[in-house]
Amino acid sequence: MKLEEIFEAYKNYIMPTYTKVPLVFVKGKGSKLWDINGKIYLDFFPGWGVGNLGHCHPKVMQAVRDQVSKLIFIPNNYYHIPQAKLAKEIIYWIYPAKVFFCNSGAEANEAAIKFSRKFGRGRYEIITFENSFHGRTLAALAATGQKKYQSGFEPLPEGFKTVKFNDIEEVKKVITDKTVAIMLELIQGEGGVNVASKDFVLSLRKICDEKNLLLIVDEVQTGVGRTGKLFCYQHYGITPDIMTLAKALGGGLPIGVMVVKKEISDTLGPGMHASTFGGGPVICKAALAVLTAIQKEKLLANAQKTGEYIFNKLNELKNKYSIIKEVRGLGLMAGVELNIEGKSIVEKCIEKGLLINCTHDKVLRLMPALNITEKEIDKAINILDEVLK
Ligand SMILES: Cc1ncc(COP(=O)(O)O)c(C=O)c1O
Repeated sequence: MKLEEIFEAYKNYIMPTYTKVPLVFVKGKGSKLWDINGKIYLDFFPGWGVGNLGHCHPKVMQAVRDQVSKLIFIPNNYYHIPQAKLAKEIIYWIYPAKVFFCNSGAEANEAAIKFSRKFGRGRYEIITFENSFHGRTLAALAATGQKKYQSGFEPLPEGFKTVKFNDIEEVKKVITDKTVAIMLELIQGEGGVNVASKDFVLSLRKICDEKNLLLIVDEVQTGVGRTGKLFCYQHYGITPDIMTLAKALGGGLPIGVMVVKKEISDTLGPGMHASTFGGGPVICKAALAVLTAIQKEKLLANAQKTGEYIFNKLNELKNKYSIIKEVRGLGLMAGVELNIEGKSIVEKCIEKGLLINCTHDKVLRLMPALNITEKEIDKAINILDEVLK
């Protein structure tokens, strides 16, 4: 297909739910992407948080190839080896827990919301936070603390109370005898790369323990090595009751996981929740390859080292350009808050071959692959520098 034909097909046959950049990509390898004209881009926002190993990691490709030649799909009323291995591997790296497999972040959060209601036996209110993002399905959307995503889709499911992030007093004020859970991203991605303070998270844990509430940590974006630890909660010295995962775990294929602490995991029994494709053999093999690559290739150590490097470089830019208000984040999850709208900066970076994101209008978001090199960071920072100039 020619470029014009592709755009025409999208225009005529695909619903326009995404704001699109007029680029057609045909190949990816590591942090590089090739467009249809052969132009190469440096991808510092691979797959909106999906590409923690970069594009087409050889171990993921091999795992998928092996599995599709044996068994592509088997439903969840039977057993298969990749699902057993993946569940065991996830739990090996965290705390005693059980998992429920699904296909996306929103679906994992829906599962967490349903789980909480069942756990609550009549308690159903969930406290969430301003500027959070938990997905587009109705309950996940109701949990999302951003009106712009909810507008027009009312009435949303009841039972969510949204309060100011990082403000423990606000949380205390809205707890009632109907409250069952508190749900948060430890670093709000979509909401502008806002980092939860350690005090805040420790206080949330304490309140949940005292009042028998579930602490639900949405690690859809922060998980799988993004912040320099396998999961972001590990920076805080707490254990969530429920953790949701998706995005990067599948290495580019769709996955969602709800991870529930073992002692309460039997709250959901046979027939209470399901997802046809959840935890299929191909995706489980891909996810196992992702977790293996992270360990074998020491990608957490690389994320910590290159994370420090990129934050130093971004802070140098901050000292140089007054339009940068703040640089924040952790590991390889970086937000650069500007005094101006970031759209034109993103567009100019793309023209110069660098793919980044802007969220919340003014926050540039950089989330390169965990195997990024300092040389690639230098290249990206030089482009950003030229554009800011
Ligand atoms: C923190 C967080 N939770 C949930 C979601 C929704 O995930 P999905 O798009 O896979 O449904 C996202 C997506 O960006 C996210 O960043």
